[in-house]
Amino acid sequence: MGLTKGLLCNMLEISSTAGWISTSISVLLVTLVVVLRNWNWWSYAPSLQKGQAPLPPGDMGWAVVGHMLDFLRAFKSQEPDTFIGNMIKRWGRVPLYTTHLFGQPTALATTAESIKQVCMNGTVFKSGWPKATRTVLGRKSFSVLEGDEHRRLRRLTAQGLQGQEALKAYIPRVEELVKAKLTNWEALGQFKLVEKLQQFTFEVITYVFMSYPGGPQAQELLHDFELMVHGLRAMAINIPGFAYYKSLKARKEVLKKIQAILDERRATKTANHGDVLGSLLEMQDENGSHLTDEEIIDTMLVFLIAGHQSSTFSIMWAMIFLQRHPEALKACREEQLRIREARDPGEPLAYADFRSMNFLNDVIDETLRIVNVSPFVFRRVTETTQIEGFTVPKGWFVENWFRAVHTDPEVYPEPYAFKPERWKTFRPKAGQFSPFGLGNRSCIGIELAKMEMSIFLHLVILDYRWEPIHPNAPVRYLPHPQPVDGCLINFSRL
Ligand code: HEM
Repeated sequence: MGLTKGLLCNMLEISSTAGWISTSISVLLVTLVVVLRNWNWWSYAPSLQKGQAPLPPGDMGWAVVGHMLDFLRAFKSQEPDTFIGNMIKRWGRVPLYTTHLFGQPTALATTAESIKQVCMNGTVFKSGWPKATRTVLGRKSFSVLEGDEHRRLRRLTAQGLQGQEALKAYIPRVEELVKAKLTNWEALGQFKLVEKLQQFTFEVITYVFMSYPGGPQAQELLHDFELMVHGLRAMAINIPGFAYYKSLKARKEVLKKIQAILDERRATKTANHGDVLGSLLEMQDENGSHLTDEEIIDTMLVFLIAGHQSSTFSIMWAMIFLQRHPEALKACREEQLRIREARDPGEPLAYADFRSMNFLNDVIDETLRIVNVSPFVFRRVTETTQIEGFTVPKGWFVENWFRAVHTDPEVYPEPYAFKPERWKTFRPKAGQFSPFGLGNRSCIGIELAKMEMSIFLHLVILDYRWEPIHPNAPVRYLPHPQPVDGCLINFSRL
């Protein structure tokens, strides 16, 4: 009896200790979940004063990672717009949402009006690229500079990139390069379009910027560039094996090569080769000062990166859409044929030809709208401000989510349908069509990009046919949207 009682007591004691332990564990777990769930909010959401507009609706997800996993899940699926779609479902359709992305407290601007207000206010909203991007691009690069320094560099480089005179000078070389590439592709018959277009756009940009010879030398430089670009969106972990480490190493190689070109031009006193590098070497601002080597090299890096990646994917998707829409391809062919027939046989393309490619221009705009090569851009908030009835606190970041506007059915009916004809009558208001950004940091290469795309498409449409081997290949959206097979195509002359 005594023994049974003792056993019972022991069992009760054990079970009450176990109960206590399990209750404690549960309390701990719940506390941990509450802390992890609110950490970002406690750390970054300011307490608002009476009368101050509310923060945009939303939440900041889990500690440190925020909503990064939701973002990656959406962009690694075939439906990247579910990321914003889920916010709309949860919080309603509003111009701004609170979230936490890329390790930063963030307001997502998702309407034309909110995007316009952010992009047009360069005083409050400064460049806000993550650390890895800033380091890889360099501290004197466009993407990092602000205020007068940024304006000065923009003004200086624009001379070599914008306006008829600058573009006219590049047309013959780009046309020649396209023709050589297309002949070479025809001989190959089958290849990955992404790979070949990367080589083409890189040769164009290295030619325009530094008269770089094409062929193996450009391919070697491209290889270093590709490594460098991988680190742009990586975590800033500078340890062997990590993308960021490899990227910084490749950056050193690229710097050496560009520095060698600078040194040679100075030594031989042949600065001006009619390219952008020549202009950068000779340029003086109103105070008579020249750019430093660091400024020139960092500028070149940003241009060489910005100038070939986006153009590659834009040309590739225009080709895919045209192949999927025979009626648009036919209309394009007819337009391009009229332009060719108006020239003497063998006469090179002229600036006026490129300006008269109206339907092709609509095809390009529609491609840029659907594809969203740059789906969003970052800004840093330097002063607490109010946008569309919401407070955006100092220290936060804003992501201008162009993609949300470009796929908004209220702005673009049937937003996922490829309809170049919509551009005949549609005149977008500021913020409704921003594939090249908006405001003081908008793309400086827009004219060059459009010219390069138009010349390429003009020639390929007139003389070639192409067909994807896997027409239903899934799309990989990061870092840039592309079919997972690299867009493997059969390519032949018409
Ligand atoms: C289809 C092709 C292209 C697309 C879709 C594109 C898109 C963009 C976008 C969205 C921005 C704005 C970034 C921001 O707001 O923070 C931008 C900036 C920029 N782009 Fe492009 N781009 C293209 C081609 C080019 C080319 C060919 C060049 C070089 C000649 C270039 C050079 C630049 C530079 C230097 C900036 C930074 C401007 C600044 O910070 O002031 N881009 N681009």
